[in-house]
Amino acid sequence: MTNSKLNIGIILGSTREGRVSPQVGEWVKGIADKRVDANYEIVDIADYQLPFLGTTDGTESGIVAWNEKLSSLDGFVFIVQEYNHSITGALKNALDFAREAWNNKAAGIVSYGSTGGARAAEHLRGIMGELMIADVRVHPTLSLFTDFENYTTFIPSDLHLNNVNEMLDQVLAWSGALKTLRE
Ligand SMILES: Cc1cc2nc3c(=O)[nH]c(=O)nc-3n(C[C@H](O)[C@H](O)[C@H](O)COP(=O)(O)O)c2cc1C
Repeated sequence: MTNSKLNIGIILGSTREGRVSPQVGEWVKGIADKRVDANYEIVDIADYQLPFLGTTDGTESGIVAWNEKLSSLDGFVFIVQEYNHSITGALKNALDFAREAWNNKAAGIVSYGSTGGARAAEHLRGIMGELMIADVRVHPTLSLFTDFENYTTFIPSDLHLNNVNEMLDQVLAWSGALKTLRE
C-alpha cells in the first residue's frame, strides 16, 4: 500500500550551542505524532553544515542534502526563536539556500522569546511570501518567562496545546491543497 500521508518537516531554526529549540521541536512533534494524520519529522539545520551563502563554490554535499530534504516535504512547521527582533542568521541562510523546494507549500510557526517571538515570526512571514510558502494564521507563541524555567528548561503551559493542533490543522489543509499544484 502506498503511503499517501503528507510529509511535514518541523524545522529547528537555531543552531547555537546550548539552544532550546530541540526541546520545543520535540514537544511539537509529540503533539503532532498523536494525530496520526501525517508523517512528521524534525529537520535540524545544524545537521546540514551549510556554509554561509556565497562564501564557497556551492558544491558542499550539505547544500544538496538540504534541498533534497526540503523537496521531500509537503509542508513545514518552523520553530522560531527571536534574535534581535528577527529570526536567526542560521535560519535566514538556510531559507536562502533553496528556492523551488520551498515553493507552493504551506507552513506554520511556533515561536518563542520575551514577547513570544512575535517580531521574529512576522519577519519570517515576509520572507515566506517571497519564497511562495503559504503561512497559516494560527501561531502558538511561547514565553521565555512562563514557558521555560531559567530560560533553559521547557515547561509549556497546557493552554498552547489547542493552538498547536489548530495550527497543524491549517498546515495540513493547505499542504494538501498546494500539493495538487505541484503535481
Ligand atoms: C543574539 C541573541 C539575540 C537575542 N535577541 C532577542 C530579542 O530580540 N528578543 C527576544 O525576545 N529574545 C532575544 N534573545 C533571547 C532568545 O530568544 C533566547 O535565548 C532563546 O532561547 C534563543 O533560542 P535558542 O535557545 O533555540 O537558540 C536573543 C538571544 C540571542 C542569543
